[in-house]
Amino acid sequence: MAEGVLVTDADGVVVHANRALRGLLGVGPEVLGRPLTEAIAQEGVQGLVELAEAERESVQEELPVRGRRVLVRVTPIEDPTTGIVAVLSDVTELRRLERIRRDFVANVSHELRTPVAAVRAATETLLSGALDRADTAREFVGIVDRHAERLHRLVEDLLELSRLESGEVRHLPEPVRLRDAVTRALELFSLAVKARGTRLTASVDPAVDCVEATAHALEHILSNLVDNAIKYSPEGATVRVTAAPHGDRVRLSVVDTGPGVEARHLPRLFERFYRADKSRSRDLGGTGLGLAIVKHLAEAIGATVSVESTPGEGTSFHVDLRPSAGPAAEPSRDE
Ligand SMILES: Nc1ncnc2c1ncn2[C@@H]1O[C@H](COP(=O)(O)OP(=O)(O)O)[C@@H](O)[C@H]1O
Ligand SMILES: [Mg+2]
Repeated sequence: MAEGVLVTDADGVVVHANRALRGLLGVGPEVLGRPLTEAIAQEGVQGLVELAEAERESVQEELPVRGRRVLVRVTPIEDPTTGIVAVLSDVTELRRLERIRRDFVANVSHELRTPVAAVRAATETLLSGALDRADTAREFVGIVDRHAERLHRLVEDLLELSRLESGEVRHLPEPVRLRDAVTRALELFSLAVKARGTRLTASVDPAVDCVEATAHALEHILSNLVDNAIKYSPEGATVRVTAAPHGDRVRLSVVDTGPGVEARHLPRLFERFYRADKSRSRDLGGTGLGLAIVKHLAEAIGATVSVESTPGEGTSFHVDLRPSAGPAAEPSRDE
């Protein structure tokens, strides 16, 4: 069993200590037959045993044990024998997950607060007179509009993440023609590219045909990566989308000539709400969730994502996809 179990007899001698217990406390089988006070040096355990014996009821406490969090529950044994049973559970991972959840809720609240405060301030200004003056009315409605848009994006990204994490929608990969997905994704950026004078190019190796994916996942991954590449690069930069065989995979890359990302940020870039450049991301309306979504989508279709970057030269994101032998499903025709 996963829990560590320790039993003593009426004289306080250890009569049972399972493998999990010995592993948790870092002791060997020699603890058997010895008094608990000598056998177990772990701080806190002895005190709990004494308390349980004095109170004649179960007591528990979470203790730091050899770098882990361990919940220790001590129960006195009722007649005919006396002594105690101690059950030790390693709750390190549980506590870690709880902390992640707490941080996530705190992050979401923090992200919501700014746009909500901006909308409230603008509507208050409007209601207290600005509404009657055409020029200021327009300005403040514009502020409401921008921040409502930001709230909308945040909610959409959160929903997408939660759908992906719950596994509620199954992304059953099927053959998808990569060239088509690239073309469709890039179409979305024709306006942004014009506005920023970005050179956006795509080249798909003729040897690449279908990959295991879903059209939704592939286009969403690509549009998030291309959006970042355009957004974080200065005007007139070049963004290249390429696809070519890479070992037994197909590597889809989005390469930009933007500012790059410092090496210390790279390992955390795919975490929810992690931003290398906080103020810049917010100014550009980013939610900080794009790359977390990319990573989840990639995992859902059995692909892996990675990033390389040289500050001052640019950034490359790679998605390594499974090639697919089968033909792409024909688009269904209305009969
Ligand atoms: N192509 C890129 N060039 C430079 N920095 C990037 C690039 N792509 C992502 N980043 C950094 O990674 C962070 C996380 O990206 P993302 O999850 O898409 O969030 P968002 O774009 O909403 O801030 C960004 O805030 C930015 O600091
Ligand atoms: Mg983004």
